[in-house]
Amino acid sequence: MSNNARLEYAGKSYEFPVKKGTENELAIDIKTMRSATGMITIDPGYKNTGSCESAITFLDGEKGILRYRGYSIEELAEKADFLEVAYLLIFGELPNQEELDKFHNDIKGESHVDEEMKKILDGFPKSAHPMGVLTSLTSALIAFNPSSVNVTSEKDMYWAIVRILAKFPVLVSWTLRKKKGLPLDYGDDTLGYVENIHKMMFKRPNHKYEKNKVVIDALDKLLILHADHEQNCSTSTVRMVGSSHAGLFASLSAGIAALWGPLHGGANQAVLEMLEAIEADGGDTKKYMNKAKDKEDPFRLMGFGHRVYKNFDPRAKIIKKAADEVLGDLGVEDPILEIAKGLEKEALNDEYFVDRKLYPNVDFYSGIIYRALGIPTEMFTVMFALGRLPGWIAQWREMRLRNEPIGRPRQVYIGHPSREFVALDKR
Ligand code: ACO
Repeated sequence: MSNNARLEYAGKSYEFPVKKGTENELAIDIKTMRSATGMITIDPGYKNTGSCESAITFLDGEKGILRYRGYSIEELAEKADFLEVAYLLIFGELPNQEELDKFHNDIKGESHVDEEMKKILDGFPKSAHPMGVLTSLTSALIAFNPSSVNVTSEKDMYWAIVRILAKFPVLVSWTLRKKKGLPLDYGDDTLGYVENIHKMMFKRPNHKYEKNKVVIDALDKLLILHADHEQNCSTSTVRMVGSSHAGLFASLSAGIAALWGPLHGGANQAVLEMLEAIEADGGDTKKYMNKAKDKEDPFRLMGFGHRVYKNFDPRAKIIKKAADEVLGDLGVEDPILEIAKGLEKEALNDEYFVDRKLYPNVDFYSGIIYRALGIPTEMFTVMFALGRLPGWIAQWREMRLRNEPIGRPRQVYIGHPSREFVALDKR
């Protein structure tokens, strides 16, 4: 049997090679299609289009499998910490102790943010959405770190990566601290990467920072679960912007903007707002289930459904368990969690949701944990960005090392055919 796919059109036959991935995924390679046939493919939302070959993350939405560099998400969430996972995603292998220490020390050495950046932050109103602030600050970092733009060697790339892994958590913490009216602060390089993030975000003036293992472990797990998810909207944005060689920080800033949307990373905030609204409305989950199913009603059950998972999102399973543990350990009794559980139970037994394979996604439970950890709702998507940072970096690095061409899709034009210009007084 030929390993080609055949296309027949207007009495002519064309053949295109079929590629097979490590996990036997098949893809028709249409690189030569337009030159051979004069035709393009059209696929709004890219539901059937692979934009690249990638060795970073494997996910099987039908089976509910997610692996980073071959390691299962369940095992990584259980046994690794976030910095090890970041190293794994970016450089391809789990680090040994020496590699991990060097990576961490390099990050600590770059963790200062130019004081002038505080003036930029100062210009934002307190009411500004943290994701908007963060995308701007990430972009502003370029001006203070110009050597991170034109990276032509792996060494330059390494330092651009280390710098952003070091400075981004500072920007995140400053964004939160400004919102809370707390002084802008730096971390403590005797702490672990995630512990330090937590300290930078929450340390109160005149109070000693006390490490809480339950909180740090939960945060570590959440960041790992969000660290990569192959070619989603924000990652594709990072790769697309990076494909013009715009630089890592500019690409990341664009990725943050893409993540902000409620159909993507913004869903975790939307989930919590939805649960709060249901609670305020008397906790009638059935009413909201019916709204979600009503095609005349724009309401959707936030935190349900996924473009790729048509089975339980494996991350949601881990987070659901973590939410129970964290709330139990912290002694938090949250009526919102009960509403979430009620909705989940109903949806999993409802024909509408079952037929459409709509399962809870990662965002359905993450917000409940963030809330228990004292993170304000508006910061939820920022926490997602913090977790996704290594994934975006890994994807950007892979794209540059593979020398991928500039991303430039085509279109099918459906506007007016050529027409004569009409003078203003004749219209
Ligand atoms: N509530 C009610 N109905 C839904 C939902 C939902 N959450 N999600 C999908 N549907 C329905 C659609 O109305 C559609 O029904 P139809 O076939 O009768 O027209 C069908 O299920 C398929 O939905 P699509 O929108 O075509 O699926 P798509 O793959 O394009 O969208 C998405 C996926 C955007 C995640 C969608 O499920 C959604 O809007 N979910 C809520 C928002 C959310 O939780 N986003 C987070 C995603 S995960 C992440 O980014 C980390």
